[in-house]
Amino acid sequence: MTIKNICCLGAGYVGGPTCSIIALKCPDIKVTVADLSKERIAQWNSEKLPIYEPGLDDVVQKCRGKNLFFTNDVTTAILEADLIFISVNTPTKTIGNGKGRAADLKYVEGAARMIANVSKNDKIVVEKSTVPVRAAESISRILTANQKPGVSYQILSNPEFLAEAVCEATGADFSEVARAIVFDSRIGSKFLQASIDHPIAEVNQLFSAANAMLAQRISSINSLSAVCEATGADVSEVARAIGFDSRIGSKFLQASIVSGKKICILGFAFKKNTGDTRESPAIYVAKTLLDEGASMKIYDPKVEEERIFEDLTHPSICEVPEQVRKHVTVYQDAYTASEGCHAIVICTEWDEFVTLDYNKIYDGMMKPAYVFDGRKILDHKALIDMGYHVQTIGKKLGRPMVTRCWSSNPAI
Ligand SMILES: NC(=O)c1ccc[n+]([C@@H]2O[C@H](COP(=O)([O-])OP(=O)(O)OC[C@H]3O[C@@H](n4cnc5c(N)ncnc54)[C@H](O)[C@@H]3O)[C@@H](O)[C@H]2O)c1
Repeated sequence: MTIKNICCLGAGYVGGPTCSIIALKCPDIKVTVADLSKERIAQWNSEKLPIYEPGLDDVVQKCRGKNLFFTNDVTTAILEADLIFISVNTPTKTIGNGKGRAADLKYVEGAARMIANVSKNDKIVVEKSTVPVRAAESISRILTANQKPGVSYQILSNPEFLAEAVCEATGADFSEVARAIVFDSRIGSKFLQASIDHPIAEVNQLFSAANAMLAQRISSINSLSAVCEATGADVSEVARAIGFDSRIGSKFLQASIVSGKKICILGFAFKKNTGDTRESPAIYVAKTLLDEGASMKIYDPKVEEERIFEDLTHPSICEVPEQVRKHVTVYQDAYTASEGCHAIVICTEWDEFVTLDYNKIYDGMMKPAYVFDGRKILDHKALIDMGYHVQTIGKKLGRPMVTRCWSSNPAI
C-alpha cells in the first residue's frame, strides 16, 4: 500500500509533535491530527500551541495548512487515512482493579471502535500509546470483530519512546518512520532495537521492560542519594563513577527532588523545555507545603497559571481548593516570585534559573535565605559565598549549623 494520508488520533504531547515532524519530513504525505477536544485543536490552529517543545513552533508554521492539519472531524480523518496512529491518553487508573498502577485503556479502545465503525477501506493501524503487553491484540480483536466487508487491517505496535522536550536533540529522521525502529534515547540503543516485524507482544514487552529499567535506575540513585546525604558523600561523584562502567552508562543517574518545606517554587513543569506538568515533582512538593500550611509563590517560564491551579486543586492533591487559592500565587518572573521569601526551591532545571542574578534575589529575600536546589543545577559554592544556606539532593554542603533547613517551626 502506498501511504498518501496519515491520520493521528490524539493531538497531545506525542501525536502533535510527532505528526508535525512527519509532515515536515514527508511533504508528499497529508498528515491530519484529529482530537475530540475542541480546545486542544483550537490551540494547535492558533499562534499559541498547546505544547512547548524547542523548535516546534517553526515546524508547525511551515507545514500547517499545507500538508499538516489539526481537526475535530475525527470521522473524516479516519475515512481518508491509509495509516492511523493511535496516540490517545492512557492515564493511570483511579478506580477498580489496578487502581493507582495500571493504565486505563478506555481511550485506546474507544479509538479502535471509532476506526472500526468508520473505515470503508484497508487501514494500517499503528498503536503509539503506552499500553500493556498484548493490548494491541485487544485492539486487533475490536477491529476484526467489527470488520466491514472488503476492509482489512494491519495492526502494528510502535510504542512511543521519544521523551518530551528533546525534539531537537534527538534529530530523529521521521521520514524513516515506515521502518519504525524503536529507540529509547534515555537508556541507549544497544539492547533496545526492534523492528515492527517483531511480534506485537515482543515490542510492547520491550517498552514495558525499558520503563521498568528506568524506574529501577531512578529509584536506585535516589536511595544512594539519601545515603550520601547522611554520610557526607556527593551523589554526583558516585553517579559519575558508576556511569564510567560501560555496562551501566551515565544517563538517568541524576538524583531528583525530594520534598521539604519551601516558599518560592521555581519551575512547575516536570522537566525543562516543556509546559507539561503531569506527575511533576513540583506538584508533590507544593502538596507537602500546603499540608504544612506554608504559602507559595510560583514561577515557571512555560506553565500557565490556570494549569498550576488545576494541578494543585485536583482532588488527589487537595481536599479544600480554596486553601490553594489562598496560599498560592503565580508570578511572571523569578525576581518577583522570590521577593520576600524565606526560601527558594528549584523544581525544574530551566536554563534561565542557572543565570539568574542571585545576589539581587538574596537582597530581596528574608534572612536567613535558603536555596533548595532540587535539580542540582546551581553553583552551590557561589551561593554560599553570597550568604545563602544551600541544600541539594544527595550532597552535604559546607555551611556550618546547617544540616536540615526545613522545619515546621516558624522560628527557623
Ligand atoms: N508525553 C510523553 O512524553 C509520552 C512519551 C512516551 C509515551 N507516551 C504515551 O503516549 C500516549 C499519548 O500521550 P500524550 O502525552 O500525547 O497524551 P495527551 O493526554 O497529551 O493527549 C492525548 C489526546 O488524545 C485525545 N483523545 C482521547 N481519545 C480520543 C479519540 N478517540 N479520538 C481522538 N482523540 C482522542 C485526548 O483528547 C488528548 O488530547 C500515552 O499512552 C502516553 O503514555 C507519552
